[in-house]
Formats: sequence, C-alpha cells, structure tokens
Amino acid sequence: MAYGDRITVKTRRELERMREAARHVGEILLELRELAKPGVTTAELDRAAERSIERRGVVSSFKGYGPHGLPQYPASVCISVNEEIVHGIPGPRVLEDGDILSMDFGVSVDGWHGDSAVTVPIGEIKEEARRLLETTRASLYCGIEEMLSGNRISDIGAAVQKRAEGAGYSVVRQFVGHGIGRKLHEPPQIPNYGPAGKGARMRPGMTFAIEPMVCVGSAEVEMLDDEWTAVTADRSLSAHFEHTILVTEQGPEVLTKLEGSH
Ligand code: MF3
Ligand code: CO
Repeated sequence: MAYGDRITVKTRRELERMREAARHVGEILLELRELAKPGVTTAELDRAAERSIERRGVVSSFKGYGPHGLPQYPASVCISVNEEIVHGIPGPRVLEDGDILSMDFGVSVDGWHGDSAVTVPIGEIKEEARRLLETTRASLYCGIEEMLSGNRISDIGAAVQKRAEGAGYSVVRQFVGHGIGRKLHEPPQIPNYGPAGKGARMRPGMTFAIEPMVCVGSAEVEMLDDEWTAVTADRSLSAHFEHTILVTEQGPEVLTKLEGSH
C-alpha cells in the first residue's frame, strides 16, 4: 500500500473535533427529519440545513465539493427521492405522500469532518418501501458490528451485503464508504459487498464512514444530466443509510448516532 493510502489514526484531541462535527451532523439531520413532510420542497430542506449550519458556526462538507472534474456540488444536503440513489441536488421538487427521502449531510469543525445519511418515509409509505428502509438500516448496523480492532476492512462490506441480499435486495457497487477525518474522503474505499477477510486491519483511533445503498430491483446505476444525481437504471426504489464510526478498544463508537436518530 502506498504511503498516501495509509489509514490515519486520530489523536484524542482530533477525535474531540470529530465528535463535535458528528454531533452537529446528527442534530441537523434530526431537525431536517422534523421538516420533511408532504408539500415541502427539497430546496426548503437544504435552506433549513444552511441556517442551522450558520447558527452553529460549522462548515458544510459538501457545498463546493468537486472531485475529478465534476461540477462542484451546489448544496449542503444531498437529497435523493425514491429511485434516486445518492447525490441528488435539492430544488423545486415537492415531497409527496408515499415518497422515501434520503438526506446525506456532512459538516466540519476546525477542519474535522462528520458524515451521515438517513432515508425517511414521507407520510404513509408502502410495505415494500418500509421493508427496504428497515433492511438498509439493518445492513449498516451489520457492517458496524464488524468494526472491531483486528478485523479487516472487507469484513464490513461482506456483512452489509449478506444482510441486504438475504432480504432479496441488491447493493450498489459504484459508490462506497470511506475513511474520514481531516478530509471528507480518506483512504480506504469501503465497498458494501465482497468477500470478508481482505484489506487493512482496523485499529483503535481509525474513523470510517459506512454508507450502504440498497435497491429493491437491480443495483445498476444511471447518472442524470446534472452529473451528480445517481438513479437506479430500472427506476426501482433505493435507500441510503450512513454513519461516521470510530474504532475503539471497546468496539465501534457511532459518532453520528444520537438518541432518536437512525
Ligand atoms: N456521503 C456522501 C459521500 O461520501 C456525501 C458526498 S456529497 C458531496 O459520497 F457533495 F460531497 F459529494
Ligand atoms: Co460519505
């Protein structure tokens, strides 16, 4: 593994910043969940997030983010509805009863990042949609349970895949979890599929964002013309759950998890 691919171990001081960033992320996602109702536009949710960011004096991790020649991401929350998998751009779309709404959100404190996503029902949703949300969340926690010192990175994805596919769903390949810290995306990439027992060993002080995207139909991805929004090629429903997690001697600590959150 090249030097630049090393997984960073955070100091106590650094982890304090990450804990704080992660807490803001968790709290703002809870605020957004309260606002997410039929009749509300996705742009309104983004504006609410920006006001909360401002009030708290933290910095959006997403706004202006522009990897490998893509246009810069223009908003603070990635909002993806129904067949949209990830990285949807907030706009005039009005939420409707029966939609499922994914909100992916990150902020930094003194340059240290937190990243989390949740998919929530809008009004009354169909049984299949409810089962998709439950399964995707459960698959995230199956991955988190593997985050023990000495386990290997690919143990996470193997557990996620087993849970999601065991329920009859498919797991997106094109987007992966990641290391997180001084940068939103640090090595390694963490696929949500594949055999266990491969990759680096996890150690206390390492921090990772785990983010399964799970689909009712095929996991084949299509990109919209905005160059950001990923949708399922078959337009089946897709859900996304993410947490930022610290590996400790005592087991995984889910930094973005608060009471009442996913
Ligand atoms: N959780 C997403 C990811 O890690 C958030 C990225 S949004 C972006 O890919 F705007 F920053 F790209
Ligand atoms: Co992420």
